[in-house]
Amino acid sequence: MFLPNIVVILANILPYISGSPILGHFKTTSVCGDSQVKDGYQFARHTTRSLLTCASTCNELEKCYSFAYQDHDCFLYSMIVISDCSTSTPKTKKHFYEKSGCLNGGKADTTGTCYCKNGFMDERCYRRMKDCTDGMLEPSYAGKGLALYVQPNPDVEPFKVYCIMNYGGRTHVLYHLSESTNLTRNWEAYRNGFGVLTGDHWLGLEYVYHLVNSRNFKLEFETRNSLNNQFKQTYSNFKIANETDGYRITSVGTFSGPMADCMTDLLEIPFSTYDHGDANGLECAAAYGGGWWFRDYCARCNMVGRLVTTPDGNRLNISSEKYWPDVLWNPRRLKVWLQ
Ligand SMILES: *[C@@H]1O[C@H](CO)[C@@H](O)[C@H](O)[C@H]1NC(C)=O
Ligand SMILES: *[C@@H]1O[C@H](CO)[C@@H](O)[C@H](O)[C@H]1NC(C)=O
Ligand SMILES: *[C@@H]1O[C@H](CO)[C@@H](O)[C@H](O)[C@H]1NC(C)=O
Repeated sequence: MFLPNIVVILANILPYISGSPILGHFKTTSVCGDSQVKDGYQFARHTTRSLLTCASTCNELEKCYSFAYQDHDCFLYSMIVISDCSTSTPKTKKHFYEKSGCLNGGKADTTGTCYCKNGFMDERCYRRMKDCTDGMLEPSYAGKGLALYVQPNPDVEPFKVYCIMNYGGRTHVLYHLSESTNLTRNWEAYRNGFGVLTGDHWLGLEYVYHLVNSRNFKLEFETRNSLNNQFKQTYSNFKIANETDGYRITSVGTFSGPMADCMTDLLEIPFSTYDHGDANGLECAAAYGGGWWFRDYCARCNMVGRLVTTPDGNRLNISSEKYWPDVLWNPRRLKVWLQ
């Protein structure tokens, strides 16, 4: 075909003859077939006047990282082009253009390494990290504690979490160090989260749900007794159901740790707060002072109760205090994370 060939040739030489500032934002990658672009990343296909119109459309869209232009067809992609052109046939060949430099506000150092921000990651900062483990090695995050956006799967809007980019990367669910944050909150607060991400906070059940729904996570509790000895309790595979299902605990996996097992007993139990989910009418949340997976006899463990300080540092044995089963003392400086 003569005409399409002309268009292809024009598309090739136009960047060089036009000196267009728009095309200066892109680098030509390679000539590939459709099959070379990763599935699911083409988000639009328009008919456009020219290569430049297509380039300008992509340039203006934050989520457009690359485009292809062929015979007035403009294909926009939310992914940089992963090119392996070995299998493309001449018939399906298209030229790809990709935004150059660091994307999404990332800054390159003198060696060209991108330092990403806001939870973006990978060599060009082109994608959001799925969770803190995913982004742990990103140069601008590694080794730090940071509030960053994560996106466990593409259907979920990115949301902010507190990350410890160490020890394999921890996505925090609950920080309760100072006891100054009141944990007696309603359903909406436990659903959407409360507190300050960089200090005491509860991430929010909806976000926990999206995280644990995306892959297997360990759930870990770290706490201290009155002598400041640290204890870490691990559940190998924590999962909860969605809100319709009351954020019921559907899996805890295998338990390990120096203290007793507190969560296995709470399997299949939905979450409740003083204003929602009190299926058994015991008003546990009201009595215990926080939102939790309260069982028929309220709780075997209560991580959201009040910290009661006693002269000997031991528990009062009242239901509203913070406690872990079978230990004499109240757990304090509680951190709970997914990993
Ligand atoms: C915590 O909040 C609850 C509900 O708003 C309130 O009834 C309670 O008095 C508060 N506790 C403290 C210690 O401020
Ligand atoms: C919640 O989960 C249940 C069971 O998996 C499913 O039937 C329901 O459609 C889900 N609801 C929403 C809003 O996603
Ligand atoms: C509190 O409960 C623990 C564990 O059941 C028990 O060992 C301890 O003696 C109790 N303390 C008081 C003061 O009742």
